[in-house]
Amino acid sequence: MALTPYFEPREGGDLTFVVEATREKFGIGALHEAGADAKALGMTRAALFTDPRVAKLEPVAIVKRSLEAQGIDVAVYDEVTVEPTDASFKKAIAFATEGKFDGYVSVGGGSVMDTCKAADLYASWPDDFLAYVNPPIGGGKLVPGPLKPHIACPTTFGTASECTGIAIFDFQEMNAKTGISTAGIKPSLGICDPSCLATLPPTVLAANGLDVFSHAVESLTARPYTARPAPGEPRLRPLSQGANPYSDLNCLEAIRLIGENLVAAVRDPGDMRYREPLMFAGMLAGIGFGNAGCNLPHGMSYAVAGLVKDFRAPGWPQDEPMVPHGYAVIVNSPSVFRFTGAMCPERHLMAAKALGAETEGVNKEPGDILADAVIEIMRATGMPNGLSGVGYDERDIPALTDKAWPQKRLIDNAPAPIGKDDLERMFRGALRYW
Ligand SMILES: NC(=O)c1ccc[n+]([C@@H]2O[C@H](COP(=O)([O-])OP(=O)(O)OC[C@H]3O[C@@H](n4cnc5c(N)ncnc54)[C@H](O)[C@@H]3O)[C@@H](O)[C@H]2O)c1
Ligand SMILES: [Fe+2]
Repeated sequence: MALTPYFEPREGGDLTFVVEATREKFGIGALHEAGADAKALGMTRAALFTDPRVAKLEPVAIVKRSLEAQGIDVAVYDEVTVEPTDASFKKAIAFATEGKFDGYVSVGGGSVMDTCKAADLYASWPDDFLAYVNPPIGGGKLVPGPLKPHIACPTTFGTASECTGIAIFDFQEMNAKTGISTAGIKPSLGICDPSCLATLPPTVLAANGLDVFSHAVESLTARPYTARPAPGEPRLRPLSQGANPYSDLNCLEAIRLIGENLVAAVRDPGDMRYREPLMFAGMLAGIGFGNAGCNLPHGMSYAVAGLVKDFRAPGWPQDEPMVPHGYAVIVNSPSVFRFTGAMCPERHLMAAKALGAETEGVNKEPGDILADAVIEIMRATGMPNGLSGVGYDERDIPALTDKAWPQKRLIDNAPAPIGKDDLERMFRGALRYW
């Protein structure tokens, strides 16, 4: 018996999935409750993490006031690097270690929340920097015990870092994006206040929305949890447990909300009505991919970001070349959908339908229907035209493939086994879409 045919039991496969969800609150004005929440978590001396741009915005002022109103001593760390690196993580860890804080509050995008998770982890359980980092680059060590409480307050809506056990950074020595991925670093509480999105530039909004969309589709089309080998012990069951009936629910609704609101939100940046459902979509997809795991577009994105040449994106800091995360993901997605469409056609059709695409009586493969629908949104929101839009050409395909191939955790979560030549074909198909 299976809940749907996709989750049919298989020989040696897992028969159990786990529903993990960080405690989250959602609502306009919710940020004003940060102080009371921090007090309830026992904080008396908190580090408030942010980046130099967000430091000047209203959400940081609101949170700082709210913490101080509860008598909590606050030290602000506003030196987070956007798209963090091993060096910027280490600087934040040093701040956290010296400060002897009993709690952390992060206010910012994925860059800030991820940096805060790493700072809390290494200050609470010191070890070699690579000890907790994902294999094969690091040792993949499990966190020995609880961290200090961390309240994560996103001011973007793409990463869902407030509810995941993931912290991503650019390991500069190897030109590779990698991270720490373990339930032990999940924040204690996420506070999603849609009013934070008021100042978000339209390009960041679009990139966040397409990142959310890809999280949701990748979780929906991930290999079923029943196809992943059963773990020897329950604690060894990975966070990326594969598609499951619970993550499906969150992801389908997230796709629907993105289809309904993203283009309008980018076209009409002054209209806040679209931003509240977008933030909710981000939260839902975050819970979804936190329980299922992403697959190929994210697996390929680390190479696209890591091998950047001289691309700079409008709306982001311009001092260093950088392919922002949402761009690095979405440039791959249509090509991947065309490839994986045949592996689970009904799931690609479900996603296309949720996005609002016409699926009845259309003479196209399901993967193509979904790819074409997302390409239309990419064009309408000013996203780059595939890999060529972020500075790559045909000659870069072998290097991108070599760089992405070690991302085993994500590649193995594809709906069916993928070879290196398949990966190369998907990168080639992502060069240009229009
Ligand atoms: N932990 C996870 O689960 C996870 C998942 C996906 C991505 N990531 C990582 O998160 C990072 C990207 O995070 P992001 O997309 O949230 O963006 P970000 O934190 O990198 O911020 C992007 C830009 O927007 C600015 N910004 C943020 N909020 C703003 C606001 N409200 N108004 C105006 N400007 C604002 C920032 O200062 C920055 O310049 C990457 O490092 C990525 O690898 C983490
Ligand atoms: Fe993402």
